[in-house]
Amino acid sequence: MTAIAEGIVAFELVPEGDTALLPFTAGAHIDVYTPSGHVRQYSLVNDESERHRYIVAVQWDAAGRGGSASMHNLGVGAVLHVGQPRNTFELVRDDVPTVLLAGGIGITPLIAMAHVLLRRGRPFELHYAVRADNRVAFRDFLDRGGDGMACAIYRDDDPPEWRFDAGSLAARIKDGARVYMCGPSGFMDAVSRACASRPDIDLRLERFAAPEPAGPGPEFTVSLARRGLSVPVPAGATILETLRGEGIEPDVSCEQGVCGTCLTTVLEGQIDHRDYFLSAHDHKAGDRMLICVSRGKPGTTLVLDL
Ligand code: FES
Repeated sequence: MTAIAEGIVAFELVPEGDTALLPFTAGAHIDVYTPSGHVRQYSLVNDESERHRYIVAVQWDAAGRGGSASMHNLGVGAVLHVGQPRNTFELVRDDVPTVLLAGGIGITPLIAMAHVLLRRGRPFELHYAVRADNRVAFRDFLDRGGDGMACAIYRDDDPPEWRFDAGSLAARIKDGARVYMCGPSGFMDAVSRACASRPDIDLRLERFAAPEPAGPGPEFTVSLARRGLSVPVPAGATILETLRGEGIEPDVSCEQGVCGTCLTTVLEGQIDHRDYFLSAHDHKAGDRMLICVSRGKPGTTLVLDL
């Protein structure tokens, strides 16, 4: 465990005994079963070429439900259960100009990508916005990135002309660049809006938390095709909660519509998508949904492949 910035601790996780770690690729995350009992997704920060350890960095979230606090209270040598790496934020290995764009703790998956790009000798830009200088994580790595990495750090307490400005950054991004972005919702929404005027930019992002809880929504019915069971999902309850009430325990992790663990095939019905995992294209296709947050249209029936 190493404190790497104000409120941010990096954890080096090594396997117990002879257990082999599963390989991962830059941009991947793992589920960590925190001591508080919450499951949290943390991006792997280290170079994907490493096979002997996973490194994650955890920011203390004073407003959180205790997962990050319990991680920060761990001691060296503590035993943690983690899930296998999953990657929904893949780095494309080609020669398109690449920009890595981070807000706060969103720097974590981008550091893993920077390792790969440096090793491949692919020049790239890294833009990193933080609240204050003491919040800059991985400073050693950023300082020694070398010529291949053009790194800019923006602090909210910098003079106005040096602060992060989504509009001016979007205007400066190279034509046809691929931009990988991770950070708080407000930051990513501002960049997404600014990039709307640049259709040539391929903007890829990963959210680590839902912006705000989606409202409960009116009642609808869910029908489980494989069980031959139909149950009403009341206003104020989610499909997930309703299924649990029936003694059914689907696979879940974030329960915020962010991680994709509860992705379920929809056989029939109209979905009210409320997740931050599926693309707009997926939403339009209407054949899969995240049952922890998304709903059926009011008064209708959704038939799920469950
Ligand atoms: S549990 Fe993470 S999206 Fe549903």
